[in-house]
Amino acid sequence: MRSVLALTFVCVGLLGLTGCGSQGIQVAEEDPLRKGAVLFAERCAGCHTLDAAGAEGTSNRSTRAMGPNLNQRKETYFSTIYAIRNGGFSGAIMPQNIVVGSDAEDVARFVAKYAGKDAGN
Ligand code: HEC
Repeated sequence: MRSVLALTFVCVGLLGLTGCGSQGIQVAEEDPLRKGAVLFAERCAGCHTLDAAGAEGTSNRSTRAMGPNLNQRKETYFSTIYAIRNGGFSGAIMPQNIVVGSDAEDVARFVAKYAGKDAGN
């Protein structure tokens, strides 16, 4: 419950900056990955940059909660599911289980396809 509350603050805090909504999503309405993109924009964009979701993280690079820029990290379906369940790879900063069940699977499929576009591989 605490993490849900904390997230609400992240989202509300960013409202003015990013809209915390579905603008800027680069995945077509009819694409099956669209749902994951929308969930990412709603739940993950406060901390992670990922162009395909219109996500710009926080503007403050020195904030500890700032997650890795996912344009620059290649992720697999399983690494994303792991990060969601464990709370990042270290388990220290990112809240666990921000999305669960089929929502987590949708987000992971979306991240696996779109993360790492600037990773150079
Ligand atoms: C409160 C900020 C925050 C939110 C919200 C957040 N993350 Fe994170 N995330 C982090 C931080 C910080 C790290 C890096 C530290 C770590 O790995 O423990 C991280 C790490 C990750 C990693 C591992 C990246 C790598 O290659 O090292 C993935 C994948 C990830 N997050 C995906 C997500 C997804 C998907 C969501 C939404 C369901 C999400 N994150 C929401 C802060 C956040």
